[in-house]
This record gives sequence, C-alpha cells and structure tokens, in this order.
Amino acid sequence: MFKYLSLNHIYTMPKKQKILITAGLPYANGPIHIGHLVEYIGTDIYTRALKLMGEDAIFCCGDDAHGAPIEIKAKEQGIKPEQLIKKVFKEHVRDFKAFNIEFDSYYTTNSKENKFYSDFIFNQAKKSGHIYQKDIEVTYCNKCKRTLPDRYVKGKCPKCKAEDQYGDVCEKCNATYKTTDLIEPYCTLCKSKPIRKLSNHYFFRLSAFSFKLKKWLETNKELQPEIKNYIFDWIEKGLEDWCISRDAPYFGFNIPGEKDKYYYVWLDAPIGYIASTANYCKKHNKKADIYWKSKTSKIIQFIGKDIIYFHFLFWPAMLMAADFTLPSSLIVHGFLTVNKEKMSKSRGTLYTAEEFSKLHNPEYLRFYFARNLSKDINDIDLSFNDFEKVTNNELIANIGNFCYRVTSFLDKNFKGTIKDTDKNKKLTEQITKKIEKVKENYSKFNLKEAVRNILEISDLGNKYFQEKEPWKLIKRDKKKTQEVLGLCINIVNVLATLISPITPKYSEELRKQLSLKELKLKDLKFNLKNHKTSKPKIIISKIEVKKMNQTFPLNLKVAKIIDVKEHPDADKLIILDIDLGSEKRTLVAGLKNHYAEEELKDKLIIVVTNLKPAKLRGVESNGMLLAGDDGDNVSVLTVNKSKPGDSVYFDDYDNSTAQITYDEFLKVSMKVKNGKVIYNNKTLKTDNEEITVEKVKDGANVR
Ligand code: MSP
Ligand code: ZN
Repeated sequence: MFKYLSLNHIYTMPKKQKILITAGLPYANGPIHIGHLVEYIGTDIYTRALKLMGEDAIFCCGDDAHGAPIEIKAKEQGIKPEQLIKKVFKEHVRDFKAFNIEFDSYYTTNSKENKFYSDFIFNQAKKSGHIYQKDIEVTYCNKCKRTLPDRYVKGKCPKCKAEDQYGDVCEKCNATYKTTDLIEPYCTLCKSKPIRKLSNHYFFRLSAFSFKLKKWLETNKELQPEIKNYIFDWIEKGLEDWCISRDAPYFGFNIPGEKDKYYYVWLDAPIGYIASTANYCKKHNKKADIYWKSKTSKIIQFIGKDIIYFHFLFWPAMLMAADFTLPSSLIVHGFLTVNKEKMSKSRGTLYTAEEFSKLHNPEYLRFYFARNLSKDINDIDLSFNDFEKVTNNELIANIGNFCYRVTSFLDKNFKGTIKDTDKNKKLTEQITKKIEKVKENYSKFNLKEAVRNILEISDLGNKYFQEKEPWKLIKRDKKKTQEVLGLCINIVNVLATLISPITPKYSEELRKQLSLKELKLKDLKFNLKNHKTSKPKIIISKIEVKKMNQTFPLNLKVAKIIDVKEHPDADKLIILDIDLGSEKRTLVAGLKNHYAEEELKDKLIIVVTNLKPAKLRGVESNGMLLAGDDGDNVSVLTVNKSKPGDSVYFDDYDNSTAQITYDEFLKVSMKVKNGKVIYNNKTLKTDNEEITVEKVKDGANVR
C-alpha cells in the first residue's frame, strides 16, 4: 500500500465541513417558557460541543414574527405589530442570555433578507409550475371584517358534534376539518355568526413531491426511524396541496403582485432559517449560499414533535422546488411535562424562562435537561423533587464537590501549586477512554450518555482522592501528596472542559481557578505540571426546593347556565341547570329577588364544584355559584373570555379537589376590591381573564 504514497506528496488538509445548526423559531407573541428551553438548551449544548471538538459549526435562530395571532394581539393592545414583535424580541434575547444560550445569529422573520428569500423561493416554485391559484370558501366575519383563521372560529364539531371546538381540529374526537365545516360557527373575537365567502388563494403543489420526499427520507440515515414511519404513512395516505396565502388583515409579507394577500406565516417562517444564516454571513463577509446552496455543507435542525409535518413535508418540498440544500438531519424531541403533566397555568407549572431564572441557577436546568436529552421523542419530565435530587446529588455532590475539594486542599497545603503528577496509568487510561465516549455521545446528540460518562469520570476522581487519603498521606510524604493533587487537578481540568457545553458559566469559573487560558480537549492528556492555580471558591451549591403552591380549599370552575327554573317550594330560590364542560349539574341559588330568569340564561358563572351536595327545600344542589354581596346588592360573578370547565383560581394557589362542607366554605374569606375578587392579596382569575364584579361596593363578601 505504501508504494502509492510518494514522499514529496504535499498533503493539504481538506477544508472543514460547514455545519449549520438551527432550532425552531419561537413565536413573537409570547414569552419563552421552560418548555421552549428544552429545545434551545439542547441545541446550544450540541453546538457548543461541536465547537469544542473543533467543528466549524454555527447556531442560527430567530423570532417567528408573522401571522394572525400577532396581528390580532397587537390590535388588542392598541399598538402596531412591529412594536409588539420588537418588544418580544428584546424579552426573548434577555431570556436566552440568562440561560447562556449563545447564537451565532438571532434574527427575525420580519427582515429584508427573509422577504428576499421568501420571494425568491416563491418565484422559483411558481416558475417550475409548483404554484397555482384557485377559489376556495373561507369563513368571514362581517363585523370584524376579516377572514377567520382556524383558531378564531369555533362551533360544533362536524363529526362528533362536541360544542365549542376550534376551526381546525376537535379536542374531543380529534377529527380534523376546515373552518367551513363547523356547525353553528361563531367568531371568537366578537361572538357573531360568520359567513362563507369565496376567496382566491395560492396553493403549493405538495402532492408533486411525494416521490422525491419519500426518496429523501429513505436515503437519509440520520433521521429518527419512528418519525420516518409517521411521514411515510402521511405520504402513503396522499398529500394534499398546501394553501400558502392569507387575506388581509394579516401581518406578513405581501405576495408579489398582490395587494391584500400575504404569505401564510408557515411559508416564510422556515425560510427565516436562511435569513438568519444570511444575517450571520453578512457580518462575516460570507454568503448564505455556502450553507444553503452547497453539496458539502451540513444542516442540522432541531424541532419539537408538534411541528414535524411542516419540517418533514412542506419545508423540504419548498427547498426542493427552489433547488436549495436539504437538511441532513432533523432532530425531533418530545415535550416538556412538569410533574408528569402538561404544563398548565392553573396548576402553576407553566414557568416562563424569566420566572425560572429567578428561582434557580439556570445552569442547573441546563444540566437537568442534558441529563434527560437524547435522540428520543418521548416527553421529558421536570419534576421538582427529581430536579433537586439531580442537581444536589450529581452536579453538586459529585462534580462540584470533587473540584472544590481538590482545589481547596491544594490551596491550603501547597499554595495552589502542583509540580509533577502521580503516574497512575490505569486511572488515566480509564479516564481517557471515557473522554472519547463523551465526545462520541456529544456528536450523536446523546447528551444523556455524555452526562453519565462525565459523572463516571468524577466518580473515578472522587474514589482516587478518597483512597489516597491526602489528608493522612501529607503527614508521611509531602512530595507524593502533591503528585496526587497534581493528577487530581488534571482530572478537574477534564471535568471542567467536558462539561463546558452544558454548564459554560461554571466551567468558566473552574477555568479561572485552574489559571488556564482556555479549556481545550487536546489538553486533556494529564500533562499539566509545575502550575499554580488561583484561590478557590465555592461556585455552585445545593438547592432547597422553594415553597410549593399552597392549596386553596375551593375547587372553582367556569360553568354555563343552560336552564333556569322556578323552585316549587321556595320563593327566594331558583333552580339552575349548568354545564361544566365535562359534566352537567343542577344548583339551587338564592337569586330570585335579584335576577330575572332571562338575565341568567346562557351566563358564564363561577361555581364551587367540591361542595358537599345539600337538599335545599327538597331540591338537591350540587355546588354553588359565587356572587358578591354587600348587603344591598347581589352580583353574580361572570366571565366572558373563558369556557365551561375552565379552572378559576388565585395565583400561587392550587384548587383543592377534596369535598368541603358549607361551614368550611363560609370560612374562606374572599372580598371585592376595585371590582376584583381578592383572597390573601391575590386576584381571582382564569387563564384568560381576571374576574370582575359589578354593582357591589368594595369590601363586599364573595360567597
Ligand atoms: N414558530 C413556530 C416554529 C417555526 S419554525 C420555522 C413554533 N413556535 S413555538 O414558539 O410554538 O415553538 C418553538 C419551538 O419550541 C418548537 O420547536 C416547539 O416544538 C418547541 N416547544 C414549544 N413548547 C414546548 C414544550 N412544552 N416542550 C418542548 N418543546 C416545546 O412552533
Ligand atoms: Zn367577529
């Protein structure tokens, strides 16, 4: 074999492959929450790990700034959409910084680059015959003067007839349909009945890409098999063409040559990946083509499982239509649950990034997520007991304590100086093998295993320190003790370096303590000698679980009055039939002298649902409605932006589900103040609104 190699052959290193990494672009209409962070932290760790291993990788992301919800929300707040997205952009950037998420470019889809690439891809697709126009029926609200998107029209499910379902999918039977299929539709903005209208729209011929998409999936070895199977299934069932335009009013890009038509947000959102890359390239005197029009670049995209359809079908088809580079890898992760349940405001488990960063060191969450992440699409659970255990037992007691023990012992006994290192071949070989494992696991996005390997290294370090008993050894053999510490400091260097993608701040502090210029993988050869470290300090410490939500004794829910009847045997009482979303009940209420029957019908009220049933003059009452009462006036609490079954609660409290007696109920002191209901300084609300009370004076009791 060697004869083919001539000695004067000049070997030039091949240029490093360009790697572009992206994460799903967060919507610019709300805050980053800890669910989002699963994705951005995971992607950030992965990018940092590749960079540590010397790869030419960049991480590009940005806000997804277009669409109907943003336009509507801005209108509600009386500001321009541009103002809204600017404000949210700032908040997102602040939150990412707090969690040490470092982008090479964080941009926005509302940018000139994105307009350019959207038009370019649209025009290419049009030229190649992949876009056509046709009239379709849309749901239109005459009062709001707008075409109603899926989420802004509700009605009965055309399949199972469940009430109050959104215009795209039924939450009861999972059927999917068009807004025009809803029975008895109503506009969620103004509650009026919409009309059907014909409107001309643009369609992308997704169906024409079935074969190519299948081929792409089949030949791509990096895609997760379970996801592939989903997609094959969808393709098998036949792909429908995709409507890519929306009528004004809309916040987005005008379609070329049209006045009142815009690109559907999901057309220009993924193109935002390219725009963000262009933003990076602009600053580095490069062109986005080196990533997006290249046969040698590598594009790795992280997304949550809810946006698979867009990323495995529409997005690659668009790239194919315009002849752009396809992602080589789309890594799909599951959803974050808190205490094994979907995050929810009423349970107090929907933490924004900002809230969480005030509770705990953000790097603890990074470590916790890393410990749970891999190329696995199962949901990831954050349970606070587990979070405390993992942080305290693994990050602090194992890694943190080892590093601190070593640096402080060295400082105390040798003024922080190491000379030679103990030659323990067995140990250094074991650790070297594990370093290789960590690298391998990082590159496969097997963060879970990488963390395990790192913990094993620190276990080995702890064991070695324990066995050598330097605190005893020092009395017999000072030189040997310093050598033991020399090896330990080298292990600290290994740990600080390997964990740096996960806990960059902590590693940075360790680097300072080690008095090293940089933490580099190639320096992990146990040959750090004759070196003086800096004064050690405790960098990370154990957490105590913060106060949990208290329980509020009542279980309050929104209910709709569906029928009002006279009580046969009492002149102050009336009988109400109510709908609680998942069940119907009958209540007896003392409202006869305060409300007319027709005033009450269809009202959305608040009901104590865990009250022990009681017979009131012979009629059983299953619960009780809440009203403000100041002695003169009685005012039933009502809501208008919530639906039957919604939880009604005070912040920081969990509603109890245990049954209570009427006497216990009377002890709960809720009062009216400035038209709101107050309990221990907290205001009564649902996820959608604060409860307001009319007619009664401040200080009125609520019962
Ligand atoms: N704007 C779209 C994505 C456009 S990409 C061209 C979007 N935005 S999002 O804000 O709803 O979500 C952003 C990313 O965060 C998505 O990949 C989504 O899957 C992920 N997550 C949002 N909530 C999540 C959890 N609760 N848990 C884990 N990931 C979650 O979708
Ligand atoms: Zn309307």
